[in-house]
Amino acid sequence: MEGNAVREIEGGAVAVREGRILWAGKESQLASHARVTPDTTVVDAGGGVVTPGFIDCHTHLVFAGSREKEFQMRMEGKTYLEILQAGGGILSTVRTTRAASEDELVEAALPRLRRLLRFGVTTCEAKSGYGLDTESELKLLRVIRKLASLQPVKLVPTLLGAHAVPAELRERREKYIDTVVGEMIPAAARQGLARFCDVYLEKSAFSLEETEKILTAAMDAGLLPKLHAGQFNDLGGAELGARLGASSVDHLENVSDEGLGMMAQKGVVAVTLPGAAFFTREKRADCARMARAGVRVAVSTDLNPGSSPTENLPLMMTMSVVDGGLSMQEALLGVTASAAAALALPATHGTLAPGAPADILVHDAGDWRRLIVHFAVSHVRSVVIDGKVVLP
Ligand code: NIG
Ligand code: FE
Repeated sequence: MEGNAVREIEGGAVAVREGRILWAGKESQLASHARVTPDTTVVDAGGGVVTPGFIDCHTHLVFAGSREKEFQMRMEGKTYLEILQAGGGILSTVRTTRAASEDELVEAALPRLRRLLRFGVTTCEAKSGYGLDTESELKLLRVIRKLASLQPVKLVPTLLGAHAVPAELRERREKYIDTVVGEMIPAAARQGLARFCDVYLEKSAFSLEETEKILTAAMDAGLLPKLHAGQFNDLGGAELGARLGASSVDHLENVSDEGLGMMAQKGVVAVTLPGAAFFTREKRADCARMARAGVRVAVSTDLNPGSSPTENLPLMMTMSVVDGGLSMQEALLGVTASAAAALALPATHGTLAPGAPADILVHDAGDWRRLIVHFAVSHVRSVVIDGKVVLP
């Protein structure tokens, strides 16, 4: 698989050296590219499909507590934004997360990472966003750093201080925005705790002007911008993301043709989060329209306790095809090469091209399409990260 196209090789082999892909091609040509020595580890794929490791490019991995009652309220007719306005939703997870210690948050997140790994995720973006004060947001970012050292899945940290205005500053939102801009962003950047800065642009969260102010400050501090936009209302996030040169604009269930056109022109990736639209019973993103507009689409779980409590990234591929209209190739690229682009990773990431990190999956499936067709289960047999077998 390479860049913008899925390339299938029948009877393939992959050679790895020092944690990187050395070569991938027909097994019959392996001997002229790589030598098997006594200390070579050989993983026999046994007729199974081999793909790059999956990249989940949008998760809210670190939080405490759960929100089952909120789901019941939604199924009884309340909307996601009504629950948030009433101090529930994100704000209820903020209360439980603030009360949790760093160790407790690490313990809560480790099983999520284990499940992600079993679904084939070898790189995972992880956002803060359930702290909503400087110390609590930095705590979440430190938890992400700790998690990266404790288990094999690679983590990409994102500051999402602008996820919601905390309850105590509800009547003084400018003060909170000043804190994000003046304290959180500089501290996260100075301490090297975040690569990206994200903002939730939505009614009951942050306005277009506020989003621009926060992301501009983030860029000045050396963080890369991305945003949640168009989940329930189109407030101009696609256009803003393109103007700022964001790595990705995520959600986009509601987006204008102009916005998509600008994203295509600037090479901004659209991250579709089909689990969230499904689970909140809201409008599904039209991924086929994004692709027609020339926008590259990545596919992610949006793993979080409210709108998408799932680690099942392969299921998101299926949903992006069935509900979103992506082609099967685009869906596979969506969790590999396009997801790498959404995280501004080097061009070889999410591929098996020479020089790419040797993050490789072996699936119990004879055809890669099976990963999408036989849905909602994991077909992963073995996972290799940086050239080391980490599963089983
Ligand atoms: O991407 N919409 C904002 N953030 C998440 C939901 C977070 C939550 O509900 O806790 C999302 O859907
Ligand atoms: Fe999200």
